[in-house]
Amino acid sequence: MTSSNDPMLHVINHPLVQHKLTLMRQKSASTTSFRTLLNELAMLMAYEVTRDMPTQDIPIETPLETMTAKVIDGKKLVLVSILRAGTGILDGMLTVVPGARVGHIGLYRDPETLRPVEYYFKMPKDMSERDVVVVDPMLATGNSAIAAIERIKALKPKSIKFVCLLTCPEGVAALRLAHPDVAIFTAAIDRQLNSHGYILPGLGDAGDRIFGTQ
Ligand code: URA
Repeated sequence: MTSSNDPMLHVINHPLVQHKLTLMRQKSASTTSFRTLLNELAMLMAYEVTRDMPTQDIPIETPLETMTAKVIDGKKLVLVSILRAGTGILDGMLTVVPGARVGHIGLYRDPETLRPVEYYFKMPKDMSERDVVVVDPMLATGNSAIAAIERIKALKPKSIKFVCLLTCPEGVAALRLAHPDVAIFTAAIDRQLNSHGYILPGLGDAGDRIFGTQ
């Protein structure tokens, strides 16, 4: 269930997604419950982002008779996690799409410039034959997502989607401008960025909350 006037922007407003997001936002949420909720939310978001995956009909036998039934078609999906917070979404998505291939891109934000600096990049083979879903819980300035997608585009995948938990108007605008062909899936678009590049009201530092490193 998604809403937005922009066909490339999917705000997943399903009550379960919104409920879990509210629990995660609260500063009283423990590391354990934050991680559990992120996992559950990622599973629900995987359901939306894979909605248009191609299927093919195959013959099977049930205990009673033969029939033609659907299975997912084509090369396995690639989930690309932007380290380190992307790991939180990746785990939940892999529960639902266990056969997916996984890529990692390591980027950290320079605290002064807020620009991304790459320190790791590892993708599966045959990227040109695969659909890619890039995951990062927070689309804030958009700098990391834009840089990650630029690197992935160089490998010419069939398609790229971007999944985050939360974003803000600034992040959406930046990513849409840089990569208008990449659909964005999010659970909410918050009010604004602050001067440190954090989303308001947001949920704080996603990495610190997932890993308990605050
Ligand atoms: N990254 C985070 O973890 N939180 C924000 O609010 C913005 C970027």
